Amino acid sequence: MKFFADTAEIDDIKELAATGLLDGVTTNPSLIHKSGRDFMEVTKEICGIVDGPVSAEVVALDHATMMKEAEVLRKIADNVCIKVPLTIDGLKTCKALTGEGTMVNVTLCFSANQALLAAKAGATFVSPFVGRHDDNGFDGMDLIRDIRLIYDNYLFDTEILVASVRHGMHVLEAAKIGADVMTAPPVVIRALFKHVLTDKGIEGFLADWVKTGQSIV
Ligand code: E4P
Repeated sequence: MKFFADTAEIDDIKELAATGLLDGVTTNPSLIHKSGRDFMEVTKEICGIVDGPVSAEVVALDHATMMKEAEVLRKIADNVCIKVPLTIDGLKTCKALTGEGTMVNVTLCFSANQALLAAKAGATFVSPFVGRHDDNGFDGMDLIRDIRLIYDNYLFDTEILVASVRHGMHVLEAAKIGADVMTAPPVVIRALFKHVLTDKGIEGFLADWVKTGQSIV
């Protein structure tokens, strides 16, 4: 499963990229706002840090303006992936852009039928929001299971990008189901490295090592 960071914070992206485990980045208008940075400038900077897809979201609601915005955004770098909402205009834009060879991430997906439409529109990625789905009394992971089944039934190439990930269980479940990608805030990705027994084990080994009086270098 590919790991994307769901953030527009440069320091976090650099730190995660240095682990070699970062396959891409997703942003949205709220994350750009949170960063306090200029959209074009910060997107360009992110694209220079990671080789993989960097999702940049259009804000227009109509197809014609979405296309104009996408035209500007895709000039930022070759690894820009245009993010469009799961609406009729968004999917029209998806179809047109993927037809021109541009990567498209169809976002704000909350049903398996919506995901089916995104795949039929040729989306590179579909982003079902599991956390927000859970918040509203649904099971986000059931949605991922349904989409996996449908995509496998018809051999769609669209990658399932599990979004709105809130904790490690979301990551684990997504991987067990066979999602292609997950995007999570840096704090969630960092937490994946941690285990209390790992820390305790290191502590014990180091204490005994000191007693040996030896050094490796
Ligand atoms: C994905 O691309 C979205 O930017 C993101 O995962 C939304 O997450 P949230 O529900 O935590 O805002």
